[in-house]
Amino acid sequence: MLSATENIVIAPSVMCADLCHLENDIRHLESAGIAMLHFDLMDAHFVPNMPIGLALLAQLRPKTDCAFDIHLMVEDNDFFVEAVADIGVQQIAVHVESARHLDRTLSLIQARGIKAGAALNPATPLSALDYVVDRLDFVLVMTVNPGFAGQKLVPATLKKIADCRAFLAERDSNIPIEVDGNVSFENIPKMVAAGADILVGGTSSVFHTDGTRAENIKRIQAAVEKGLEKRRAACKPN
Ligand code: DX5
Ligand code: ZN
Repeated sequence: MLSATENIVIAPSVMCADLCHLENDIRHLESAGIAMLHFDLMDAHFVPNMPIGLALLAQLRPKTDCAFDIHLMVEDNDFFVEAVADIGVQQIAVHVESARHLDRTLSLIQARGIKAGAALNPATPLSALDYVVDRLDFVLVMTVNPGFAGQKLVPATLKKIADCRAFLAERDSNIPIEVDGNVSFENIPKMVAAGADILVGGTSSVFHTDGTRAENIKRIQAAVEKGLEKRRAACKPN
């Protein structure tokens, strides 16, 4: 069974927005129908970058009703879980590669009433989720190596999305799969057909320089529809 629903969510990656006019940028995204924002919190240790921080999150929180989707790329997951939970967020993904005590950290997130996700680097096998599937509210499949925007999709990750959907179905789980990295107009149909439910839109789609935010989101929605058609066709009995 593929994804439970056809409700595909677009979550713009805030690190790719116009950070010098961020509130204005978010207003454009909201008017185009966006209801979730993806925040990449990096500590310059787990990944060699630090695009946005906790102060930005705290300042933005009262300015928008969008759900905050937090992607932690840090060594000290528990510290950042508590910090963002105090700010007020709806879901948090922690990398299995950095979580010293993954099960405990996922429980910590859920204990704060926040949806818990596990993020997997492209090379990390799905088996890393074997003993935490029942602790998960979503899976974040990285389609690029984390840390930077503007990269190219790691080709093997398209199959990994489909494998992840099958892996979850085998364990009677139909939680959403979020994909993050080069979620482009060209890649979206393949990602959705493979089972992706939440699309992190960055420089190759939402913030693509060829169009306005509204134009780009329309193009994404058309690409999503193409992917859903492929998904439906794959489900049809022969
Ligand atoms: C990278 C981040 C992504 C990134 C996406 O580590 O997790 O959210 O901003 O940027 P693009 O879409 O340009 O790959
Ligand atoms: Zn991200």
